[in-house]
Amino acid sequence: MLIAIEGIDGAGKTTISRFLRDELEKRGFSVVLLKEPTDGEYGRKIKEAEKRFDPEEELKLFLLDRKEDVEKNILPALKNGKVVIMDRYYISSIAYQGARGLDMDEIRRMNEEIAPKPDVVIILDVSPQEGLRRVGNRGSRTVFEEESYLAKVRENFLKIGDMWSETTRNVKIINAERELEEVKKDVLDAVLRVLSR
Ligand code: TMP
Repeated sequence: MLIAIEGIDGAGKTTISRFLRDELEKRGFSVVLLKEPTDGEYGRKIKEAEKRFDPEEELKLFLLDRKEDVEKNILPALKNGKVVIMDRYYISSIAYQGARGLDMDEIRRMNEEIAPKPDVVIILDVSPQEGLRRVGNRGSRTVFEEESYLAKVRENFLKIGDMWSETTRNVKIINAERELEEVKKDVLDAVLRVLSR
């Protein structure tokens, strides 16, 4: 079982991912929680960059980082019967690199060549204003965190959510501007529903 937690910066992905891991462990599942971009060679290159890469270069780095994560961490964990929770996965590439003008279907295709499809996708939805307010409490902003850019990214996440839920894919868009306890409950319910099938 592969679960992806997605959303713009400041949506609460890290808090929710940890909560979900703890809840699933309490229920006896063996869980691995991973985060992208990773701390590997390419992930560090992305995070430590002082200026922005051009969109193609940026996408390439996220793909290389993800490929490494898939081979080293994700596939081995799935083979060992673990539940894998991704704090960001390739839906982030579709939404963020798509917002820089790259073709979203093409980004998806490139990713699905190297990365297994998630069984559940949770999109935590907040407005860019709220996301940035929360990120502001965390320190300085990065190049990914400008309001107009995040507005496009959010739109893309919502588009992907709508499109994928029309197919058989388990995608859930959750309003993450509400009280944390309510958000947690909705996420856990959505995941348990799929796990129990
Ligand atoms: P983080 O803040 O979750 O560590 O992620 C760093 C930034 O990387 C974040 O603003 C979103 C961006 N990102 C992409 O643009 N494409 C991707 O595929 C991923 C995983 C992250």
